[in-house]
Amino acid sequence: MQGRILVVDDERDMLLLLERIITEETDHKVVTAVDPREALELVKTGSFDLVFTDLKMPKMDGIRLLEKIKALDPTVSVVVMTAFGTIETAVDATRKGACDFITKPFRRERILVTIANVMSFQSVTRENRVLREALGKQNGFASLLGVTPVMRDIFARIRQVAPTQGTVLITGPSGTGKELVAKALHTHSHRRDQRFITLNCTVIPENVLESELFGHVKGAFTGAWKDKRGLVEDADGGTLFLDEIGDLSPVLQTKLLRLLQDGEYRPVGGNAARRADIRFIAATNRLLKEAIAQGRFREDLYYRLNVINFDLPPLSARRDDIPLLSHHFLKKYAAANKKTITEICPLAMRRLRALDYPGNVRELENIIERGVIFCRTESLKTADLSLDPEQEPLDPPYALPASLRHLGFKDAKEEMTAIFHRQYIDHLLREHNGNVSLAAQKAGIQRQYLHRLMKEAGLVTNGYRDRPNGETDIPDMAPPTGAADEACGRQGRAINRT
Ligand SMILES: Nc1ncnc2c1ncn2[C@@H]1O[C@H](COP(=O)(O)OP(=O)(O)OP(=O)(O)O)[C@@H](O)[C@H]1O
Ligand SMILES: [Mg+2]
Repeated sequence: MQGRILVVDDERDMLLLLERIITEETDHKVVTAVDPREALELVKTGSFDLVFTDLKMPKMDGIRLLEKIKALDPTVSVVVMTAFGTIETAVDATRKGACDFITKPFRRERILVTIANVMSFQSVTRENRVLREALGKQNGFASLLGVTPVMRDIFARIRQVAPTQGTVLITGPSGTGKELVAKALHTHSHRRDQRFITLNCTVIPENVLESELFGHVKGAFTGAWKDKRGLVEDADGGTLFLDEIGDLSPVLQTKLLRLLQDGEYRPVGGNAARRADIRFIAATNRLLKEAIAQGRFREDLYYRLNVINFDLPPLSARRDDIPLLSHHFLKKYAAANKKTITEICPLAMRRLRALDYPGNVRELENIIERGVIFCRTESLKTADLSLDPEQEPLDPPYALPASLRHLGFKDAKEEMTAIFHRQYIDHLLREHNGNVSLAAQKAGIQRQYLHRLMKEAGLVTNGYRDRPNGETDIPDMAPPTGAADEACGRQGRAINRT
């Protein structure tokens, strides 16, 4: 198996040394990073098998980097290297998931044996993963969830399209799950045991992106002291996911078109064309049609990419997915934060269902993660969600009755006052068996005034006299006080009287 190795060290000499050992003695691809934060970015998109990291680095120590890498992708094997090795640090690194611990200076053989061990372990686990994914397939899509008709339709189409060679363009607003759909297409295809490689077209400058994508030959430019494989070669036989395709420069659009049309490409500085067998999936949250009209995106490339289109709807257009997604994220973050939170209280769920979500599923995920962090009981409550108070609709009984929502202020106030009069007087008369004098006295108003209010509200004393618990015909205008509030232990909100 040809693997991908990432080396992270703040000393450039050490990077060069390891890079040289790996390229001279093995077949594996090696990428280096002097900054651990850059290393994390690479791990996010690079699908590495093995990471060598130094322990003492100024911007982030190796153990922290190890933890972050494992959180991003637990399948990556991480080897920690240090010149200051003690038994304690070795134990600590292993406990945090490092597969090996190497003290500097090391012998060449030590590195080579470690690589050989890790790669054979990785090839076995990859096989297992493929098997597990095949099993998981029976239940559908491991982490891509949804119950709404539009999502069910997307799942059905993924199953239909995945086994084909068709190029896919995934469109939709940010955070709607485009990357998850791309991954699902890969894991449901016959390429599932090959690589799924992501290239984010936004973050990398054009000249770097070209060499990243197509590789370069030795001497192609200053610093190109040896041939370098590109992602296209890495993805050969597998899937290449071109994320944010709308940001691709015109030059690269042309080169990509050639690859899509003829299956051919040229590494930077190379003369001979090379071939690659790749399933292409592209994604964008931009309107490519607009970019075409403005001359920023090639129309022919658009039609090449858009053989099959998945257009993901915003979360606000599929609110019935919110409970399922919320519980999924609750489980995920409760486990990650080692908390026992078993439910989302009904009121909190109502709030979650009502939000706008400009950031879509990602925003919901962030809200739940934050909620889990602040939650101190076994039930996630509205107060834990730290939502912008301006977004919060009033809870009963302060919510405006639906019948008043579209009235002007004056009319609404009159109507609300009438509702109040009827409710109050109905209650008052019930309490005093229809005895108007007593009722007026208890309420602190004139008897005549009570008579007038009764008349306006259409209430008659007879209706209360012989029916101590009798019903009147008054419709219940008050919204039900929420049992959900009590279940959540929530306090009523204070209102200002004017
Ligand atoms: N249907 C879904 N089921 C479960 N999780 C989802 C779903 N859709 C999105 N997510 C989660 O929401 C987050 C954003 O998803 P993803 O990165 O796939 O969105 P995107 O459309 O690629 O966003 P962007 O345009 O910003 O790149 C991820 O953490 C993902 O796991
Ligand atoms: Mg994305």
